Amino acid sequence: MQPHTFDLFADHQPAQQPRAEQIGEQSWVLRGFALPLTDRLLPALDAVLVAAPLRHMVTPGGFSMSVGTSSCGQLGWITDRSGYRYSRVDPLSGLPWPELPPVFADLAEAAAQEAGFSDFKADSCLINRYIPGAKMSLHQDKDENAYAAPIVSLSLGLPAMFLFGGFARGDKSQRIPLLHGDMVVWGGVDRLRFHGVLPIKQGRHPQLGEQRINLTFRVAG
Ligand code: SIN
Ligand code: FE2
Repeated sequence: MQPHTFDLFADHQPAQQPRAEQIGEQSWVLRGFALPLTDRLLPALDAVLVAAPLRHMVTPGGFSMSVGTSSCGQLGWITDRSGYRYSRVDPLSGLPWPELPPVFADLAEAAAQEAGFSDFKADSCLINRYIPGAKMSLHQDKDENAYAAPIVSLSLGLPAMFLFGGFARGDKSQRIPLLHGDMVVWGGVDRLRFHGVLPIKQGRHPQLGEQRINLTFRVAG
């Protein structure tokens, strides 16, 4: 295991400081927050996806999700005909999910801290891959055991239009463009806000090609 470093950005001199945009009482978009770490994040992500490949899971209603999904960490979010839940094993392999790479854990903790949530220790990272046309309908993240910890999201690759709604599905949503390296953190009074992603537009990202990958870090157990 690599040494766990908290001095994440020590060897980088970003042209400008990351910018934080408040989108709710306890919700923030951290523009470009992950950019200094992408050289470490992308190989770690590749290794996770070799061990636990992306798959299209089926909802309880019988629909195949348009996103390809995998997980790392102690718990992975899954769905099948019997419902939504967290599992300690990857149902594809029957093995535990790959460990959370230290660079993921450190980034998530640093982003949560920046948004006012200290001591965030993710036990789950959900990986969603969107090809152009894939989307995520409005939903709440509520399969976690407790809601004290925020949700910390990292966007990589193609741009997305993130929908950040209210506490009822029908509430008006803010439309927030998310680019490669942007992070979103929502927690506290905003923890159960509806959110989703509009269909991804065609395009090619220089590092990731024709896809968007979103990681959401959670405390699920
Ligand atoms: C999610 O809600 O799990 C994904 C959000 C995103 O892709 O930005
Ligand atoms: Fe979500």
